[in-house]
Amino acid sequence: MDADNPKIVNFVLNLRNKSYHIAETTDIMYKKEKHKEDGMMKIAQCKTNHLKNPLGYMMGQIVFTYQIIQAKGRKQTEARIRVALNEQMTDVVFDSGWTEKISPTAYTPEFILQSKTRYWWMVEARTDASEYAKSNLNWFETPLNEDEWEAKWITVGENECHPVLSRVFRTKGDVRSARLYICGLGLYEAEINGEKIGDEYLTPYCNDYHQWQQYQTYDVTQNIQNGSGDYKLSVMLGDGWYKGRFGLNTQPGQEGSYGTKWKLIAQLILYYQDGRVETIGTDDQWEVSRSCVIRSSIYDGEEVDYTISGETIGRAEITEPPQGRLAARLSPPVQEHETFIPTVLRTPSGEMVLDMGQNFAGIFRMHVNVPRGETVRLYFGEVLQNGNFYRDNLRTARAEYVYHSDGKARIIQPYFTFYGYRYVKVEGISQIRPEDFTGIAIYSAIPKTGSIKTGHESINRLIENCQWGQKSNFIDVPTDCPQRDERMGWTGDAQVFSETACFFRDCYSFYQKYLYDLSQEQNALNGMVPDTVPAVGQTTCSSVWGDAACIIPWNLYKMYGDSAILKTQFESMRKWVDYITEIDREGDGWKKSRHYGDWLALDHPSGDKEACEGGTDEEFIADVYYMYSTELVAQAAEVIGESKWGLHYRGLAEQIRNRIAAEYYSPNGRCVLHTQTAQVLTWKFQLGPNPNRAREGLKQAFLVSGGKLQTGFVGTPFLCGVLCECGLEFLAWQLVLNEAYPGWLYEVKLGATTIWERWNSLDANGRIAENGMNSLNHYAFGSIAGWFFQYAAGLQTTVQAPGFMRAKLAPVPHMDLKFLDMTYESAAGLWKLRWETKSERQLRLEITVPFGCEAELKLPLAPKEIAADGTILLRAGEYAYEYETTATMRHVFSLEDSPREIQSTSAGDQFISQYFGSLPSTARYKPLKKILQDAGMDESVILYFQKQLEELR
Ligand code: BGC
Repeated sequence: MDADNPKIVNFVLNLRNKSYHIAETTDIMYKKEKHKEDGMMKIAQCKTNHLKNPLGYMMGQIVFTYQIIQAKGRKQTEARIRVALNEQMTDVVFDSGWTEKISPTAYTPEFILQSKTRYWWMVEARTDASEYAKSNLNWFETPLNEDEWEAKWITVGENECHPVLSRVFRTKGDVRSARLYICGLGLYEAEINGEKIGDEYLTPYCNDYHQWQQYQTYDVTQNIQNGSGDYKLSVMLGDGWYKGRFGLNTQPGQEGSYGTKWKLIAQLILYYQDGRVETIGTDDQWEVSRSCVIRSSIYDGEEVDYTISGETIGRAEITEPPQGRLAARLSPPVQEHETFIPTVLRTPSGEMVLDMGQNFAGIFRMHVNVPRGETVRLYFGEVLQNGNFYRDNLRTARAEYVYHSDGKARIIQPYFTFYGYRYVKVEGISQIRPEDFTGIAIYSAIPKTGSIKTGHESINRLIENCQWGQKSNFIDVPTDCPQRDERMGWTGDAQVFSETACFFRDCYSFYQKYLYDLSQEQNALNGMVPDTVPAVGQTTCSSVWGDAACIIPWNLYKMYGDSAILKTQFESMRKWVDYITEIDREGDGWKKSRHYGDWLALDHPSGDKEACEGGTDEEFIADVYYMYSTELVAQAAEVIGESKWGLHYRGLAEQIRNRIAAEYYSPNGRCVLHTQTAQVLTWKFQLGPNPNRAREGLKQAFLVSGGKLQTGFVGTPFLCGVLCECGLEFLAWQLVLNEAYPGWLYEVKLGATTIWERWNSLDANGRIAENGMNSLNHYAFGSIAGWFFQYAAGLQTTVQAPGFMRAKLAPVPHMDLKFLDMTYESAAGLWKLRWETKSERQLRLEITVPFGCEAELKLPLAPKEIAADGTILLRAGEYAYEYETTATMRHVFSLEDSPREIQSTSAGDQFISQYFGSLPSTARYKPLKKILQDAGMDESVILYFQKQLEELR
C-alpha cells in the first residue's frame, strides 16, 4: 500500500471516524504547511571521506557526502558538485555538471590531488518539487607528500625525565598561514609560546608502529600571527603505546613494546603574505630540556615532579627513522567531552575517595596547593567493595597519578595516560573540595547519530550504559576495556559491537582507521588477522575475532551506503578467507585450531560459571563464521563489480554451508547442538535443511535454562533479534526486561553505569566475582542497544539501498515501556520513530522518513484496513498512525505453553504455584493442555484454565 497515493491518504484519514480504530497520516498539504514554517530546503552534513573539513588526513579516493533537509520535494532529481582551489570558487579543478548520477551518500569525483593544498567544494541540488539549494562552502586539505619531508627524525640522549624538545625562531614578516606537520614517539604534546597546539590527546595515536605511524597536521596560523616576532615551538614526549609497556602479560616498569627511544619529527611551514615560504624542521639544533614528567604509562599512570626545573640539558641528536612508515593521519581526534564533579566519600577503612558517579575513560584536572616536597597520590578504580576502594580487577595496571609538589598552587592534569574509572582514592592531602577535582571523559570525537528514550527508567539507563561502553572504549582504537593492563583492539569485541556503534555515532572514519591497521597487520602475517589490532605481539587468531576483517567493512557499507570501504578493504577481506581456506585444506585444520568460541557464555558443560569458553561447539562456530565471512566477500565482490571473485567465493560459501548441514543437522533440520547460541546461529544464518526448527530449538533451550539467557559473545549480539524474527518477541522482551541474574537489567539494578565484561561480574550483593578477567566497562554485551534500534524501534537498512536510503520499519512495542522514541541521523538523513502503547489495544506510531528515502513499514497488529498486505510503502515525509490493535499487546499465555514458560512472569508464577504447585519439576516442560489431558481433566476444566490464562495480568 502506498501512502503517497492520495486515495490512500483519504482512506486512512477516513478511518479516523471509526470507533474501533483511528489512523492518520501526513498528507501532502500538511507537509507543505510545515515547510513554510521551517524555511527553505537546505544542504547539510557535507563531508569529505566522512569527515567535516578534514585537515591533513590520508585521502585515498575522495568521497563526498551530504544531506538535503527541509525540502518540500521527496527526491533529488539532479545535483552538481564543484571543487576549486579558492574560496571564491573561480579556480575550479572539478565540475561534475548537473547530473542525476550524484548520490548524497557517496560521490567520488575524479581529479588529481596536489599535496599541502586546500580544496574548496560545494554541492548544488534540485528536487522533484523544483526546489534548488546550494551548500555552504566546505573544504579539505591534503597532507604532505612523502618526499616533502625536509625535517629529520631527532632523539635525545639518556634522560631521567620525559624530554621537551624545542626550537626558537623569528618570523620574517607577516604570516598569511602556517602549518605544523608533526609526529612524536611514543606520544607528543606540542606548544607554541607555551600554548598547547590543538585540542587532541594521546597523539600521534595507537598503531602497529612496526608498520606505520601517523603524523598530524595543525593549522597554526593563529599561533603565529603578529608579524615579525619571536616564537618557541616546543614538544614534550611521552612513552605511550610505542615506548611504554603495552600488551598482554607485561609488567610495570617494562618498556619498549614497539621502540625504546623517544623520537620526533616536526616540520613547520610558514607562508608569508609576500609569497615567501619558510620551512623549519627538526634537526640537531633543537634544544632538549627536562619536563616535569618523570614516568608515564598507558596502564600505570603518570608521575610528575615539579621540583625539577625545565633547564636545558643539551641538544637533540639526529636518529634513524622508526621502523614503520610515516604517513598522514587516519585517526579522528581524541578530545575532551563530558566532565564530572565528584562526591567526596570517607570509606569504612578511612580512605578519602572521590565518586564521579559514572564509570568512564579519561583524565582529570585537579587543583592542588601543598607544601614543597610533599607528594599527592591518586589511585583509580571502577567499583567499591564493602564500601572501600578496590582495584584488584585492574590486574597489574597501577593506574595512579603521583604529584611531587614544588609548593606552588596549580591545576594538574595528566599528559600521557588515561584511566578507566569511577572512583579515585586520594592520598597526601587531608581535605578536598568536590570542585577541586574534575573528571574528564576523553574519546574519539565522532558525531553522535542515534538516541533511544523510553518510558522505562531502567531501560533508559541500560541504553546510557551501552553508550558509555562505546565512549570508554573508543579512544582511537576499539578496545575491550579502558582500565586494566589490556585496553587492546580485540577484534572479536570490535566486530560484535560495530553495528550498534554505528547507530550511536558516525563511526565510519573511526573504523576505517582500525581496518587500515588490520590490513597492515595482515600484510605481515600472510593474511592472518591477529586477535588484537594493533597486534602488540599477539600471534594467534580465532574465528569470530579475525572475521572482523569481513564483518566490519560490510557493516560500514550497510550502515553508510558507501562502497569505498569495500573497495579499500576487499583485499584484506579476501586474504582473511584465503588464510582460513589454506589452513582448512589440511583435514579440517581451521575447525581444529584454537578458537574462543561463545566467549563468556554461561553454559560451559562443566557448569563452571566463571569459565571463559561457552557450551557451543567451537568447531561449529568456526565453520559458521568461515561461511559467513566467505559470503560477505562474495557480496562485497558483487557490490564493487568484481564478479569473478563473487562467483568464486559464492561457490566456496556454498560448500561450507553444505558441510555444516551434513555435520550438524539431521535430514529434517534438527540441529545436533542444543545450546541457545547454536539455535540462534541456525536461524541467523539459515543453516540446515529447515532453519525454522530453530524456533522450536530456542523454545526448548530456554525451557531447559528456566527462561534465562546463557549466550556469550557469539550468541548474544543476535539473540533478541533472532527471537523477534522467529516470532518469539515475547521472549526477547522478557530477556531484556529481566532484572534478575543473568541479564542486562540485573547490572542496572546493581547500579552499573557501564556494561560489564561478564554477566556475573558482580554477584547480587555487589561483590566482584573474580579479578583475573573482570572489567566493568566492556561493550560486547552492550550490542543489545543495536537491538533497540533494529527491533524495538524496528529500523533496519536494506542491502539493496544501503545507508538507510531504503529502510525497513517493523517496530516491536512492549507495554512496560509505555513509549519508545528513536532518532537516527543516518547517512541518508534523519529517521524518527516513536511508538506509544496508549492502552492494551491502542497503539500510536509517529514516523519521519527523511528526504530521498523510502520505508517498508510493517505496522504491528494492524487491522487489514490500514495494511492489507501487512506492509506500507512510505516515501519521505512525516506520518502518524493510531489504531486499535487486532489483538492485545499484552502477552497472553495459552494452553500450548508449559508451566516453565508461564512462570516467567510474576502473575504466571503465581498462577502456576496456585494450581500446579505440586507438579514435579520434570513435568513442567510439557504444554499445560497435555498435562491437564494426561490428568484426565475434561473439556470444561481445560476451558476454565484457558480463560484464567487469558486474564492473567
Ligand atoms: C578481552 C576480551 C577478548 C578476550 C579474548 C580478553 O582478555 O578482554 O574481551 O575478546 O580476551 O580472549
